[in-house]
Amino acid sequence: MCGIVGYIGDKNAYEIVINGLRRLEYRGYDSSGIALYNSELNVCKTKGKVEKLVKKAKKNISLEANIGIGHTRWATHGEPNNVNAHPLISNNGSLVIVHNGIIENYATIKNELIDKGYNFKSETDTEVLVNLIEYVQETENVKLGKAVQLALSQVFGAYAIAVFDKKKPDEIVVARLGSPLAIGIGEGEMFIGSDVTPFLDFTRKVIYLDEGQVGVLRNHKETKFYEISNDSIISPNIETLELELSEIEKGGFDHFMLKEIHEQPKAIIDTLRGRLKLNKGIIKLSGIDNNLNKFTSANKITIIGCGTSWHAGLVGEYIFEKISRIPVEVEYASEFRYRDPIINPNDIVIAISQSGETADTLAAMKLAKEKGAFVFGICNVVGSSITRESNSGTYTHAGPEIGVASTKAFTTQITVLYLMALKIGKAKGIISNNVFNKYLTELNLIPEKIEKSLSFNNKIEEIADQIKDSTNCLYLGRGFNFPVALEGALKLKEISYIHAEGYPAAEMKHGPIALIDENMPTVVIATAKGHYEKVVSNIREIQSRKGKIIAIITKGDKDVKEIADYYIEIPETIESLTPLLTTIPLQLLSYHIAVKLGKNVDQPRNLAKSVTVE
Ligand code: AGP
Repeated sequence: MCGIVGYIGDKNAYEIVINGLRRLEYRGYDSSGIALYNSELNVCKTKGKVEKLVKKAKKNISLEANIGIGHTRWATHGEPNNVNAHPLISNNGSLVIVHNGIIENYATIKNELIDKGYNFKSETDTEVLVNLIEYVQETENVKLGKAVQLALSQVFGAYAIAVFDKKKPDEIVVARLGSPLAIGIGEGEMFIGSDVTPFLDFTRKVIYLDEGQVGVLRNHKETKFYEISNDSIISPNIETLELELSEIEKGGFDHFMLKEIHEQPKAIIDTLRGRLKLNKGIIKLSGIDNNLNKFTSANKITIIGCGTSWHAGLVGEYIFEKISRIPVEVEYASEFRYRDPIINPNDIVIAISQSGETADTLAAMKLAKEKGAFVFGICNVVGSSITRESNSGTYTHAGPEIGVASTKAFTTQITVLYLMALKIGKAKGIISNNVFNKYLTELNLIPEKIEKSLSFNNKIEEIADQIKDSTNCLYLGRGFNFPVALEGALKLKEISYIHAEGYPAAEMKHGPIALIDENMPTVVIATAKGHYEKVVSNIREIQSRKGKIIAIITKGDKDVKEIADYYIEIPETIESLTPLLTTIPLQLLSYHIAVKLGKNVDQPRNLAKSVTVE
């Protein structure tokens, strides 16, 4: 959470930092701030979003500068207000810092600094860090880079920081541990971002700073990188960016979420590209090809993730059991990391994450590795921490997902899980060539079937109008579509703030049925081959209690069509592939409800796109 940006060079730092903050706003949007230096230090901060900061900065500070840092915040320590907003300044007024992460032992350090005469204006852990750096700089009489390095060796927690000293405004010192930090290299200029989007317009050369490294970035001068722990000089890899600017723009859609929902056919084509080879009847997936034995002889797979990625893992459980006959457990990463999980030789842990930066997932992976598991990552963001922490893995190739509510990440994660399960199932001889080829043919048709599901957008908008004023909503599904019900409920909750629960359809009678009345709509996934008759009975039970039904049905359905208050038809496919289609109307339903309620769809309250804190 939180986005940090920085620039040092000959261009106007204000423009670069502000545009960078606009692009990183998905990471947090409680407050924002900027620090610029041009013969004096100018800091402007505000509660609220970047556009509010722009207005305030234009009125209050000089915007001419060749060095600057900025921050967009998702509050952890201290409520979102002007004082707790970053950047934060050290007691002598010289050092200024932006920080993404949490300093866990800040309270102890703060007390020590208070004893030494320091005072604090904010409630943040970051103000403690900048003062610790100042203290080290003054007492050890060292340069800023060294002071940062020494200070960081005293802290526990997670950080990506950018800090500069107004007494020496020709360098920005950056460091990271647990939070992402990308450095763009231009001609005589350096860019900093929590991801690469702030500098996409300026350079294609990027360094992803590694865990526990510090960098001293200078304009027109040599840049240096060190290991924080042992001072050794390092030469990080310079990678070439392939991301295009158009991929991070709204492209004519009102919201990123709507754009990303509509991008799913293309995203899945990209996931399948070069992997699903229909003509040859094979799946090529290098992460699996190179480790096929491990997968075919695996005793158990544990899938870990959070939120939507956890839901994708639940679909994965059904897929692996059916297609590869491997026992699967799906765990919330946040629970897994604090248990004492039993990992045996031959066990595989699959970590799923869109951002590749989710703190709980990362910690759970580290634990799994310590316990000897082979850890396989399914990730969207190239070069992210989770990809680097995995023993092997596969990218989803969904392209940047900017809307906080995950959409195309989910369907592409599931697509990867199908490819994996099919490849392993075939290698183990669980599925015949015929079945395998049938799956390949159907998977290949999924993008156009999603396109068809998207064409019901207007009808879904009308349904949204009918149910938008409900305060609660139930989502039911069975088998492969039970996790889709959970995901549908999560989508509604997070962007419309309507309380929603997902349940396995048959569980309804064990409790949730008590909630049903004319005011609580139920969204039921009733696909043709998914325990159809039983789900129809559940629908009738709801109707006898005056509950409204919104049903997701398969084209050609007759029964549910007649009894549901509203229905959306999805094209027919193999039952186990239906989550890729049933998800689409649920995403659109949540989207339209949120828009009709006037909610901020892309940046819902209290949330952030990548959760880099516990
Ligand atoms: C989904 O809509 C959420 N915003 C959230 O649950 C998300 O899926 C979760 O935080 C995990 O993120 P990751 O996939 O980047 O690890």
